[in-house]
Amino acid sequence: MSTASWFSRALLPWYRENRRDLPWRRTTDPYRIWLSEVILQQTRVDQGLAYWKRCVKHYPRVRDLAAAPEDEVLKLWQGLGYYRRARNLLAAAKQVVDEHDGKFPQDHKALMRLKGVGDYTASAIASICFGLPEPVVDGNVYRVLSRAFGIATPIDSTAGRKEFRTLAATLLDREEPGDHNQAVMELGATVCTPRSPRCGECPLARKCIARATDRAGELPVKQGRTTLRTRYFNYLHIVVAGRTYLRKRTGKDIWQGLYEFPLIESKKVLSEPALLRAVGMGWKVQGRQRPVKHVLSHQVIMATFWQVLPPAGSKAEKDWVAVKPAALHAYAVPRLIEWYVENSSAKAR
Ligand code: ADE
Repeated sequence: MSTASWFSRALLPWYRENRRDLPWRRTTDPYRIWLSEVILQQTRVDQGLAYWKRCVKHYPRVRDLAAAPEDEVLKLWQGLGYYRRARNLLAAAKQVVDEHDGKFPQDHKALMRLKGVGDYTASAIASICFGLPEPVVDGNVYRVLSRAFGIATPIDSTAGRKEFRTLAATLLDREEPGDHNQAVMELGATVCTPRSPRCGECPLARKCIARATDRAGELPVKQGRTTLRTRYFNYLHIVVAGRTYLRKRTGKDIWQGLYEFPLIESKKVLSEPALLRAVGMGWKVQGRQRPVKHVLSHQVIMATFWQVLPPAGSKAEKDWVAVKPAALHAYAVPRLIEWYVENSSAKAR
């Protein structure tokens, strides 16, 4: 007699029948699975697949990634957002090579010591690659469990996180933890979707509390978002002698390690005279776009791109890089800058 929960007994056959055929499901190589899980925390499978393929092609083994320059890894990651994850990816690859002789450690605790690997990623690797009974809890899992069991504890509260993790651990099929974890995530991604879930296709439908009480639309519950901070960025698009200037972002802030145009941050949207006061004597404004709104997870950036001309004979700042417009694409830039370059005359100017 199987010791698996009703949940797992209903879910696993469904998963084996309906799972999407994805390249990281044809391997148990922890390096490749780790890459897929980090990418999938960031984006959906359809977009993530291309990034995963590119990563694996560029860096077939963890040693290849560990030896890569940070700029190159950031460029590969461009468009996914949360660039810290890309920097952590590189740091963790180096740890695996330097501290574990190129082999991923085979337990949850040791995996958690890798840079950027939290409970979610460690549990995914441990269960999928090594068959260890570690429950995975991600956004998909919160949704499936809150609906199936009718739990309204907010998923973004400490109590909620604890309750859902305990439930996930209780339900876990200890003989097949990897498939079990992936089955819950797969159900959340393809059937038990945030809006318009396909309850008619769900293997859990007969026992689902949300379905019986018509509450799928209200679950899971979130406590509410923290308010977003608004920041005002003024980008200086400078062209002198056929070159434009980029600057690498350093310091503990968004987009660390990425390139952007020289930036003046202000307390509000600047008028032209206010911008000229901020840049200094002798600059000219040749044009500007209306401010564009760029929404990140915790901040809203109101960005104005100014086309400006520095005073004749003035020197560029030490940390500016002079770039030919045609070479702009080689730099890892935030999506906001990429958008401007693609949609303005930046390439031609
Ligand atoms: N989302 C993130 N990781 C996943 C996985 N292993 N299977 C299905 N969906 C996922």
